[in-house]
Amino acid sequence: MSQATAPMYADIVDLRRYPIHDLDSDTGRAFVARCRTELRNAGVCQLPGFVVPDAVDRMVAHAEVLSEKAFRTDNTHTVYFEPVDTEVPAGHPRAMPQRSAKRTIAYDQIPAETPIRRLYETDDLTRFIAAVLGKEELHRSADTLDAVMIAIFDEGDELGWHFDRSEFAVTVMYQDASGGGHFDYFPGLRNAEDPNYDTIERIIHGDTENMIRLPGAAGTLAIFHGRNALHRVSPTTGSQPRLNSVLTYGEKADMKLNDLTRGLFYGRNA
Ligand SMILES: [Fe+2]
Repeated sequence: MSQATAPMYADIVDLRRYPIHDLDSDTGRAFVARCRTELRNAGVCQLPGFVVPDAVDRMVAHAEVLSEKAFRTDNTHTVYFEPVDTEVPAGHPRAMPQRSAKRTIAYDQIPAETPIRRLYETDDLTRFIAAVLGKEELHRSADTLDAVMIAIFDEGDELGWHFDRSEFAVTVMYQDASGGGHFDYFPGLRNAEDPNYDTIERIIHGDTENMIRLPGAAGTLAIFHGRNALHRVSPTTGSQPRLNSVLTYGEKADMKLNDLTRGLFYGRNA
């Protein structure tokens, strides 16, 4: 087995368990293969304890300080993030509103020396994510607000049921809420041939049969296929907020949100 030198982020990632610095070794290749199998079979690859407890503590402390500058959003959308279809009954997935409410700390508000920025900005992590997704190459986002953000779910906040617009999402969990705030999903619920409206309608009206609830312990890195998996963050309860980061990657360099989306998510364009 090759022995790579300790990387700059050795204080953040549990490299003995998750050798993202050493992907070309036998151990590294076997690790990526395990992740790919999990992603294929479950629609999500979860790496509990990826961020070591001390770095998680620092991430939570930074989030608490930065939360004073966070931007609150509270709005409704359909599961498709498309306008309400007035041609279908009110309870249909194309018409029924879902609520999403949270606060966000934008990338340009997070200091460069924080563990989440140091983790995001290492090429080793970008290469690892690409390998798990089976992509030749991935690029970190060039968006000064959205590249990495911190999401704060205060008491009563939630992300309503939805399908992601993007093919995949990468998240790092900092802290569970006192109660609720669960990541719930139904993998492979639709495909190009079958929109599966009947099942989606049952789910958005409360049917939880076959629902998967991910544990989401602090320090977990997750890679998730969300385009065809209906998912949500259930409403939180209690005084301790749910905290996590979303790390954004794209297949093209210089990827940025458009001004409308930046305004909607962060309350500003620059
Ligand atoms: Fe999502």
